[in-house]
Amino acid sequence: MRLIKIFDTTLRDGEQSPGASMNVDEKIQVAKQLARLGVDVIEAGFAISSPGDFDSIRRICTEVEGPIICSLARAKTEDIDRAWEALKDAPKKRIHTFISTSDIHLKYQFRLTRQEALRRAVEMVKHARGYVDDVEFSPMDATRSEPGYLYEVLEAVIDAGASTVNIPDTVGYSIPEEFGGLIKGMQRHVKNIDRAVISVHCHNDLGLAVANSLSAVMNGAGQIECTINGIGERAGNCSLEEAVMALRTRRDLFDADTKINTEEITRSSRLVTKITGISVQPNKAIVGANAFAHEAGIHQDGLLKEKSTYEIIRPESIGLVQAKLVLGKHSGRHAFKTRLNEMGFELSEDELNKAFERFKRLADQKKEIFDEDIEALVSEEVSKIPEVYKLKDLTVTSGTTKHPAATIRLEVEGRIIKKTKQGDGPVDATYKAIASITDTKSRLLKFEVKSITGGTDALGEVAVSLEEDGRTVRGYGADTDIIVASAKAYINALNKLTAKRKQ
Ligand code: KIV
Ligand code: ZN
Repeated sequence: MRLIKIFDTTLRDGEQSPGASMNVDEKIQVAKQLARLGVDVIEAGFAISSPGDFDSIRRICTEVEGPIICSLARAKTEDIDRAWEALKDAPKKRIHTFISTSDIHLKYQFRLTRQEALRRAVEMVKHARGYVDDVEFSPMDATRSEPGYLYEVLEAVIDAGASTVNIPDTVGYSIPEEFGGLIKGMQRHVKNIDRAVISVHCHNDLGLAVANSLSAVMNGAGQIECTINGIGERAGNCSLEEAVMALRTRRDLFDADTKINTEEITRSSRLVTKITGISVQPNKAIVGANAFAHEAGIHQDGLLKEKSTYEIIRPESIGLVQAKLVLGKHSGRHAFKTRLNEMGFELSEDELNKAFERFKRLADQKKEIFDEDIEALVSEEVSKIPEVYKLKDLTVTSGTTKHPAATIRLEVEGRIIKKTKQGDGPVDATYKAIASITDTKSRLLKFEVKSITGGTDALGEVAVSLEEDGRTVRGYGADTDIIVASAKAYINALNKLTAKRKQ
């Protein structure tokens, strides 16, 4: 059985989804989860594109163990030098360099002839090899390139030292049979192809990214580039969970698998949704809310008799387990810490103390505490945003006969400020009070509230998106009281905006 490598680009191509930008701490959280998921390569960013990308690659190199860490670089000396600067402390590192090979791109965007592009590709692969043995080359817009020329470029970059050649369907133009044919052709027309891994990078403009990637595997590809939840430029990239579960479920057909720990899929998907604010559609394969919901009576009847009648994937195999009671009011600090470690959280002593204090408070309010509650509780500790504004207390009045009003006390750089405001509803009144204390000029783009587990005593989680001077941030808050959760989310977002402004 062949082992297909999983190259995750959630932090690079995924971050190119509109509105998906992540801060350094969030990227580290995602990278750690990707390591638990067992991806082979993490494309941690595009080092030269911004100081933020550079810093996050550097930190991921030293803080995340397991996968190869990779940086994207255009086929330019300065890009490759910068990628190396960011990567050099990683135990396992890769430089991924690219240049277009389609006539459309060469003529209108790069203004290069085919021969100039080929020469540049070869020189830059050699330059990258001067730093590291693991070099990947991508001929951008490969699927709209003339195949003869594409194969010539691939052969030349392998001779120059590329150990992976990646075929991007940059604009999501190809269809499975054609894409599979292009990959098969590499084995016939690229003489030295046995010296490199064939990789594919498919975009989803026609909804075919996963199908194209699987067709490539059938035709000899050994690496799939993909993202959690399929996020990415425009319609997104090949979805990691779909490609991986297709290979796992149909091993009989592909005679191939990956080394992904599929039980981490659900958690990875939820984390990326939470951090990017990009929700998955309910009917999305594998990670959509309805992916395992059987509605038709005849299906339910079959399932009750024998699961395999209508279920091709066991929900537990992707880590989708029924909310499990994990801890309660009487659980101690040790049990709490053990559960956190099992869930993959590594907290400092101080973070642990704060999280435990919040856990105890929550346990007083809520009889049963589930993994999801702990996740919500802890992610606030892990976000590490300096708290310029801190919620001290909040009182709201509302109801059918009262005009909603909120009185809030915030600590602002050591000073307590109190304000009372009225609004259309309790959240509106609370937000008006916070806005008047912080004097924010930001615009509220999105306000979402959901319950984390079932029951009326469940934690409510609120996510808000704020925009100020072209900067967008997402803030979160969780509490058994959704007005308090709303206040926390707004304050968290305002703290993030302040941090961004300072940067
Ligand atoms: O879609 C694309 O062509 C890319 C390359 C940089 C690999 O993302
Ligand atoms: Zn791409």
